Amino acid sequence: MEIRLYGDDVLRRIAEPITDFDEELERLAGDMVQTMIQGDGIGLAAPQVGVTKRFLVIGLPQGDDEKALKILAMANPEIIWASEEESVLEEGCLSLPELEVEVERPVAVKVRYQNLRGETVELQADDEMLAKVIQHEMDHLDGRLIIDYLPALQRTLMKSKLKRRYAQRSAGGSTRSA
Ligand code: CO
Repeated sequence: MEIRLYGDDVLRRIAEPITDFDEELERLAGDMVQTMIQGDGIGLAAPQVGVTKRFLVIGLPQGDDEKALKILAMANPEIIWASEEESVLEEGCLSLPELEVEVERPVAVKVRYQNLRGETVELQADDEMLAKVIQHEMDHLDGRLIIDYLPALQRTLMKSKLKRRYAQRSAGGSTRSA
């Protein structure tokens, strides 16, 4: 699938809930996982591939083997608890290649979502990286991007710079982008 880059309006829309848990959703999940892996990403939200649905996939390394990924697919995710403790992490995004932004977020969250069969699942994410990726991808469902976390002046300067840069290139990714 084609990864939409910053400047594409689809990244700013509020995504719609998933209502049908069918083969089409399974296909979307599979295509998104493949796109995420090809882009060297650790997460991907549906709006990033032009689908304004509340759906995301995550693929984090499991154990010592970098190629063994733990894949998660979440429909209609909601944060039902967040730790008071927050930390700052440099985040990248497949829709904003070459940009890294320091984002402060809770270090742990509990998320309620539906799996591909439509079953409600609650996941306690105490692993900091997992908690951060979940929050980053959920931001995409509400049209929020890492550039929005920059201080105002930097953001203004960066906005026009990036729009010009991305207009001249096709989608790609850097490591650890989501
Ligand atoms: Co992203």
